[in-house]
Amino acid sequence: MSKRLRVAVLGPKGQCGACVVDELLSRGHSVVGISRSPPKTWQKPGDYGGIPCNFSDIKGLSKILSDGNFDAVVSAFAPPLTDLKAVYEVGVEGHGNIKMAILRSDYRGPLVIIGGAGSLYYKNGIQLCDDESFAFKHWYAWPDVHLDYMSTRMYDHGQRGFATFIRTFKWARGNRENPGWFSWLFRPFASLFLQFSRKTLTDSSALGLILCSRAALTMWEGVRETSWSFLSPPWQLRDKGIRTGKYEVHVDDTMGSAEYGIDNGIYNEDMAVAIVDEVENNKLNHKHWTCTGPIGLKEW
Ligand SMILES: NC(=O)c1ccc[n+]([C@@H]2O[C@H](COP(=O)([O-])OP(=O)(O)OC[C@H]3O[C@@H](n4cnc5c(N)ncnc54)[C@H](OP(=O)(O)O)[C@@H]3O)[C@@H](O)[C@H]2O)c1
Repeated sequence: MSKRLRVAVLGPKGQCGACVVDELLSRGHSVVGISRSPPKTWQKPGDYGGIPCNFSDIKGLSKILSDGNFDAVVSAFAPPLTDLKAVYEVGVEGHGNIKMAILRSDYRGPLVIIGGAGSLYYKNGIQLCDDESFAFKHWYAWPDVHLDYMSTRMYDHGQRGFATFIRTFKWARGNRENPGWFSWLFRPFASLFLQFSRKTLTDSSALGLILCSRAALTMWEGVRETSWSFLSPPWQLRDKGIRTGKYEVHVDDTMGSAEYGIDNGIYNEDMAVAIVDEVENNKLNHKHWTCTGPIGLKEW
């Protein structure tokens, strides 16, 4: 093991943050979870503590980072998805507040920020979130298994409406692409639903999370006062997967060197391995990167 580190995780109980905390603790590091209501204790053994802080309190977060004697910081912040129309604004504010708090603090060690796949570049120099018909066309290209995963994840998060939308989307696509004997009977409904899906999935209110993550990348690019690396997970990130410890890093150069992440995926558990490796080794300073790994090893 590398030297024992003291690591702050911003957003410790989220989908990504929780895996990062698990991975850090399993390697014997000490973790401080920071968010509005971080868990006070962790469900797995290890040196964990929580400090409550709303990131809108830039001064408060800055003081926690200055006083915390941290060796590394991981940001797994995301705006709540409860009000879709507010996601972009709340997300941009949150990422901006984190940036200001870090720059105003005395902390200058490694920082890994988790953003979104929409910021990855195609070889033609266009970012995924700027591609034509984003995100409808890109959902349409997902394999069935990923739509099954997304729908189950939404049920797990209590978003039943969204989960049903995803199941119906999968059915309508199947009706069009893999018709059976009687599919023509339901074709008008399938076509209507796909039209509705196109409208929904290309509407700006559905893209808030992806676009605020891109804004976060823009905020950090060019900053040289402190260490940072920006991770855009691959498009098919799946939680509750398997930790294989296998992953590949793809560094983005805005000309598509990390394009592989657009068509591929990783389990959250393996992404946490990549993040903690970066925390320990700090090899991707000032880089935008993604990491891919095996998926489809269980139900999805
Ligand atoms: N394929 C992809 O590209 C992909 C897929 C999934 C996630 N992601 C990205 O991964 C990152 C993390 O997402 P996630 O799904 O893990 O998020 P999440 O599950 O929604 O968790 C978000 C965390 O942020 C904290 N938080 C929210 N507002 C806060 C505030 N005002 N002050 C302090 N803490 C706050 C929450 O804790 P409290 O409630 O205690 O405050 C929570 O721990 C995001 O950038 C997201 O876009 C990317």
